[in-house]
Amino acid sequence: MNGKTYLSLDFPTWEEAKRFIDTHNFRGVPVKVGMELFYREGPKVIETLKENNHAIFLDLKLHDIPTTVMKAMKNIAALEVDMVNVHALGGSEMIKRAKDGLVSGSTSSHITKLIAVTMLTSMDEQEMNDELNIPGKLHDNVLHFANFANQNGADGVVCSVHEAKAIKEICGQTFLTVTPGIRLDDSNANDQKRVSSPAFARENGSDILVLGRTVTKAANPKEAYNKVVEEWKHGIKS
Ligand code: C5P
Repeated sequence: MNGKTYLSLDFPTWEEAKRFIDTHNFRGVPVKVGMELFYREGPKVIETLKENNHAIFLDLKLHDIPTTVMKAMKNIAALEVDMVNVHALGGSEMIKRAKDGLVSGSTSSHITKLIAVTMLTSMDEQEMNDELNIPGKLHDNVLHFANFANQNGADGVVCSVHEAKAIKEICGQTFLTVTPGIRLDDSNANDQKRVSSPAFARENGSDILVLGRTVTKAANPKEAYNKVVEEWKHGIKS
């Protein structure tokens, strides 16, 4: 277990993200920057967060032809974030070239980790079968995507907690499992279909938690965050 948690800065502007960080005293915690904030503020927001000592997971979920993804990753490498991701559905060549871009774009010894999204945690088996026209069990498909992501240079995957243990068994203990869809018992699943508690994540081989609405929409975000981290690090105390 890597043990890190990234707080999702799912806000439309840096002004709002900053207000949330300052109001609830989240200065310096590891954060996840997704499309919403990055497309508004651009690379500047990454520099600002780094100046304020935040570790960063850049959740842009790239999915394009291999050359385009490679060139985009070359630019992203210069931002020196902890992790960036692609959709595994982009295929083995795209994953390989994504890694090439991160390696060739690095100007220091720091190389951003490449994470592949297996199946979005907002998707269930029926949607995968009926809408994406991918047959079989969701669990088996997630394992398949994790396996080929591993074979093609990814450092880990985004998956649900429910698949993390099996992924570790196939891909090895050092292959990272990054798990969103984390909920405290009393919070809503929202649009997520494959959710889990922090304690269940701890027992099931998650390395890294992504914390979104269970913290950002809580009545007391700092209290919710501390509760998640406590449960994640130590399990549920009786
Ligand atoms: O609010 P919630 O906990 O559902 O937030 C999860 C966060 O993780 C969102 O920012 C979402 O975009 C992201 N994410 C996800 N599933 C993935 C990859 C990232 O939910 N497979």
